[in-house]
Amino acid sequence: QVAAASGHMVVLVDQSDEILKKSTKGIEESLKRVTKKKFADKPEAGAEFIEKTLKNIRTSTDAASVVHSTDLVIEAIVENMEVKNELFKRLDKFAPEHTIFASNTSSLPITTMANATTRQDRFGGLHFFNPVPVMKLVEVIKTPMTSQKTFESLVDFSKAVGKSPVSCKDTPGFIVNRLLVPYMMEAVRLFERGDASKEDIDVAMKLGAGYPMGPFELLDYVGLDTSKYIIDGWHSVEPNNPLFAPSPLLNKLVEEKKLGKKTGEGFYKYK
Ligand code: 3HC
Repeated sequence: QVAAASGHMVVLVDQSDEILKKSTKGIEESLKRVTKKKFADKPEAGAEFIEKTLKNIRTSTDAASVVHSTDLVIEAIVENMEVKNELFKRLDKFAPEHTIFASNTSSLPITTMANATTRQDRFGGLHFFNPVPVMKLVEVIKTPMTSQKTFESLVDFSKAVGKSPVSCKDTPGFIVNRLLVPYMMEAVRLFERGDASKEDIDVAMKLGAGYPMGPFELLDYVGLDTSKYIIDGWHSVEPNNPLFAPSPLLNKLVEEKKLGKKTGEGFYKYK
């Protein structure tokens, strides 16, 4: 959405036409929200902007068959290293020499993915934040093998889509998640100990620290499965770090498929 809205030609790839249809509809809805304010007094210009943006997006269910026409590949699939490596390995065979590969992973090492390809120097991380049309930040991740030219291209692309890039080495959680995920887990532990209610913790962080959402609202927004996935991954690497300790309550909610806003229930209910 943000790439297309800033004039880039985009091919959106997913596993089925059904998912792509749903994604396109989601983009349309999100564009309507963006345009409502941006073109408040000019509804025709807003409608034109939506139409133009949607025209910049094509869809496909076969990444390998469309990658030949791309300068940049942004992967945002399941957070599973084997699946990611398999995809990158396949795309590496079909992509032009100059094409840069980037992962939107929030917790897996970019270096390992780069090593699944033959283009380690043209590989980096581009980590966006929810909701992407609104959040201004992009973390640009440079591995020891990412060339300066690639890094600069990723920074330039981030600026071209209207974002403010920051750079970080390929370390667990980069900047934001390394600070944000332990903070949210500490909030869950505070609640688990019975020291305060989740409602009060959320109010406290909003009114006492100026955060737009409390930690439980944010956990539900990001997805409890995603948060669990991140913390479990770090815990397996550093089992003695108390900040990375798993939470029985979070595990229980995920087991019950209460994953947050997207499933209608997480720490809170959504209807
Ligand atoms: N698409 C387009 N526009 C959207 C949108 C979407 N999906 N969601 C919200 N907006 C727009 C609204 O239209 C509104 O625009 P306006 O101000 O021009 O009218 C604006 O954003 C504010 O939205 P709302 O009025 O509905 O609600 P809020 O003022 O409460 O803001 C929020 C919503 C922007 C989500 C805000 O609560 C917020 O900033 N929350 C924190 C988000 C955050 O921390 N994100 C990072 C999560 S971590 C992550 O993503 C990393 C990952 O790896 C885990």
